[in-house]
Amino acid sequence: RTIDSLGSLTGKRVIVRFDLNVPLKNGQITDDGRVRASLPTLNALVTQGARVVIVSHLGRPDGAVDPQYSLRPVAARLSELVNLPVAFATDTVGDAATRSVAALQNGDIVVLENLRFNAGETSKADAERLAFAEKLALLGDALVSDGFGVVHRKQASVFDLASLLPSAAGLLIAAELDVLDRLTEKPEAPYTVILGGSKVSDKLGVIGHLLPRVNSLLIGGGMLFTFLAAQGHKVGASLLEIDQIETVRGYLAEAKRLGVKIVLPTDVVVASKFGADAEYEITPADGIENTLFGAAGLGLDIGPDTAKAFAEIIRASQTVFWNGPMGVFELAPFAEGTRTVAAALTEVTGLSVVGGGDSAAAVRILGFNDDQFGHISTGGGASLEFLEGKRLPGLEVLGWQ
Ligand code: 3PG
Repeated sequence: RTIDSLGSLTGKRVIVRFDLNVPLKNGQITDDGRVRASLPTLNALVTQGARVVIVSHLGRPDGAVDPQYSLRPVAARLSELVNLPVAFATDTVGDAATRSVAALQNGDIVVLENLRFNAGETSKADAERLAFAEKLALLGDALVSDGFGVVHRKQASVFDLASLLPSAAGLLIAAELDVLDRLTEKPEAPYTVILGGSKVSDKLGVIGHLLPRVNSLLIGGGMLFTFLAAQGHKVGASLLEIDQIETVRGYLAEAKRLGVKIVLPTDVVVASKFGADAEYEITPADGIENTLFGAAGLGLDIGPDTAKAFAEIIRASQTVFWNGPMGVFELAPFAEGTRTVAAALTEVTGLSVVGGGDSAAAVRILGFNDDQFGHISTGGGASLEFLEGKRLPGLEVLGWQ
């Protein structure tokens, strides 16, 4: 179901579910990629003369009002980007929202306060979620669901609301699926996937699903230490998920059987502590505890030899998917691995996809432009779960899966 399937939206109150969950530092948006990605659908609705009611989550405030997660700065940024006034309602389904929506004229826009200030949005109890969705439904005549980054969540505005109002997917969801389908259906070889980020357990499902499909799997980020531990190496005070070591060993064996290369770092950057002012040393991956810092050493980035080797594999690939930074890129001394991998992706002649809130923010914060990559996905968990072959509630309910 596309926006066109909803018929004329002129004068209709259209609830638009975006994912405006952007990174904030001291109240400032550090990466507005998700706001920009919402513009095509927003412009299409405004052009039609719809009365646009934008809803989104921001952070994980757990059902309680928490001013640090207010969407107000995001509404202000949206207004700058769309170059139109954007009203802001200080609640989601209360008096402020009702009044703001009633005041909309054709082509007007209002952003309602963070959905997750309401416990019903994320409740695991179907009835509680539905009750909240019913309150939301009173504010609209139709729903356009376009928060790709959140389609893997069975939440009131993503899932339940779609069964209460005539609903359709927006232009961002359509564009994201177009690219991700190319990664799942006959990707051109060599196909390389780079996984980083801190949590192995979040990525295990996708590793299992991808192994039979890819030619090379490059492992960086905090999760690399669990892989090194699975090979019997000591990892000092680095991030380690002990309960995942056995599963990782299974994947290493499976990769060997399938003839897939799992490429692990040969060197790492080991620091005295977590901080931009830490002392650090570059050391072979099997000698993490042999630095000045001994067993207290903390691996915070892949080393330069590894970054170079990863870059060569990436440049020689026709299809590349990257999720998760290679190191603690927010701290200058530990950003090189992520920078080198990002630079290699910009040289890929085939399809290069950067997936995930963190990796997308990383490339922009490190100074790369969106148009240097084939596609920057707005979905982290969502794109990974899609590649895992999972059914995503927010897509299924719209008939898109
Ligand atoms: C994301 O940042 O991946 C999405 O906005 C979903 O957020 P969540 O993981 O808090 O549900």
